[in-house]
Amino acid sequence: PALSWHAHDGLLVEDVPLARIAAEFGTPTWVYSAGTLRRRYRALKAALEGAGLNAGIHYATKANDNQAVLRVLRAEGAGADIVSAGELRATMAAGIPAGATVFSGVGKTPEEIRFALGHGIYQLNAESVEEIDMISAIAAEMGVLAPVSLRVNPDVDARTHAKITTGKAENKFGIAFDDAMPLYARMAALPGIRPIGIATHIGSQITDGMSAYRAAYARLAEMIQALRSRGLPVERVDCGGGLGIPYRDEVAPTPEALAGAIKATLGGLGIPVMLEPGRWLVGPAGVLLASVVLQKQGSLHGSGGRRFLVLDAAMNDLIRPAMYEAWHGILPVSPLARAARLSPADIVGPVCESGDTFAKGRLMPSMAPGDLVAFLDAGAYGAVMSSTYNARPLAAEVLVDGARAALVRVRQTHEDLLAHQRLPEWLAG
Ligand code: LLP
Repeated sequence: PALSWHAHDGLLVEDVPLARIAAEFGTPTWVYSAGTLRRRYRALKAALEGAGLNAGIHYATKANDNQAVLRVLRAEGAGADIVSAGELRATMAAGIPAGATVFSGVGKTPEEIRFALGHGIYQLNAESVEEIDMISAIAAEMGVLAPVSLRVNPDVDARTHAKITTGKAENKFGIAFDDAMPLYARMAALPGIRPIGIATHIGSQITDGMSAYRAAYARLAEMIQALRSRGLPVERVDCGGGLGIPYRDEVAPTPEALAGAIKATLGGLGIPVMLEPGRWLVGPAGVLLASVVLQKQGSLHGSGGRRFLVLDAAMNDLIRPAMYEAWHGILPVSPLARAARLSPADIVGPVCESGDTFAKGRLMPSMAPGDLVAFLDAGAYGAVMSSTYNARPLAAEVLVDGARAALVRVRQTHEDLLAHQRLPEWLAG
């Protein structure tokens, strides 16, 4: 984990006390551990190599698109998985070539397709017949051959939260299994398209063992063999992302288990495999550091005597609890808090919605204004999902690497929030 505990300094990320980061950069602040990113990337790579797989890791940029995070992963050899022109700009700016990047998503615009092809994208994962026609027309007009993989919807239940499952027939993602074969053949006949493979992604935060993965990959293997027997070439297979992490007490599958499932199902095909992990790489590498604004003791008449810890972080910063009922560990940062008596508290933000609740009935010490807390496992789908709701500026981001800590995203200001607004002339003045 990115965090450790020191009797004098309290919680640290690598060698840097969180209290020092709060003093220097303020709160709320996202803090990422470069060492943890590297360790996790290497562990995943070793698991894939250990299974004898020829596998490419294409980091799902959507999980955390901070330039510093992208650069740390690139230095380890990561390619990228992107879902927008904005993400492609971010990954290229961080030194990840388009030639090592996969473009996923159900709604790539013509401009985005043109942009990606113009930069020599490694692979477009197409999700519909309409999109394939669009890619064909654009590529033909540009005089290039678009490398296209078909994203297949294998109709398996990844048994994760409904909002992040993607591989069931009813989801908007991918091409129905039975339509994929004829479509692949059709792609091969279209101008501007080079069909290169099959892709899938069945969902995110998968912690329910390997059975859904195995079922999906077995279906892909079956399809690839059928395509080959019709003389249609399949150069590579994209296994998607989704590997879960333990936020609470979930028993998450290991990268070795995932590698084993890939080996058992797709390993015999003799083609390279690709992975698109996001959360597994960056989730545990980040924390959200926040301060207590005040501790509100509700009266027995009002809130039934509940104790509220009101923080300076809110749902606009970390939306996962409000959006997915997600559980994040929340720890006091100060060494004194460890010894203190614990009692249940609701941990909330200041935003004007009851949904702005991070946790209910968490055992916490009594806390005073200015005391610090850290949200664990906040490196994935944290900062990237934040908004400025309630006119709250986006929080700062800091990268820790050993004993060094550096600001990697400047905290937004109120001026920034106003800077992009315009008044029609009849209201101005
Ligand atoms: N590939 C594709 C095509 C995806 O749609 C996703 C995630 C990934 C890879 C990476 O999945 P991961 O390895 O991170 O599970 N905001 C939600 C998660 C949304 C995931 C969307 N797609 C959350 O906070 O839990």
